[in-house]
Amino acid sequence: MKKPDHGHPHGDNIVPFTFSEAALAECREVMTHYPAEFSKSALIPILHIAQTDNDGWLSVPAMNAVAELLGIQYIEVYEVATFYSMFHLQPVGKHVLQVCFTAPCMLRGADDVIAHIEKRLGIKEGQTTPDGVFTLQAVQCLGSCGTAPMLQCGAKYHEHLTIEKVDELIDKLRAEPKRSNFTDR
Ligand code: FES
Repeated sequence: MKKPDHGHPHGDNIVPFTFSEAALAECREVMTHYPAEFSKSALIPILHIAQTDNDGWLSVPAMNAVAELLGIQYIEVYEVATFYSMFHLQPVGKHVLQVCFTAPCMLRGADDVIAHIEKRLGIKEGQTTPDGVFTLQAVQCLGSCGTAPMLQCGAKYHEHLTIEKVDELIDKLRAEPKRSNFTDR
């Protein structure tokens, strides 16, 4: 599930990050599910909270805040955040379309799906539309090979994709009012 290279966590993103009150409250609630000595077990859910709280991506300061909250090393957070394609290390659009391009999906037309989205949105893979609504990423196997070709957007899988289904999805997402921020959860 290694994502394509979208930058290194020691990049130049240095805008300070502080958890919002609502996000911090949710983090603390999540942490109660784990014994204090195993706080690292809460890392993935806490990273999701931090990402939502940081406009959809994990900056270095956001990852550092997660490490400090959990009392673990920065590197332990970077290792996990850089491994999973569900975590974004660069700013992304409101909707991130992650198209699987591993062999089973490629054999079922993932490259056509990617090419169509690129044409429809006027961007290349890895880019975000100028209006900040969509980011397109090609990612490794998302574990839904039996429903290839497929893409993930947020927590949702879109499977057995056709060009028509992709168009419907883009139209539907474009009609949504705004990015849901942390307080909308
Ligand atoms: Fe695409 Fe597994 S190859 S989900």
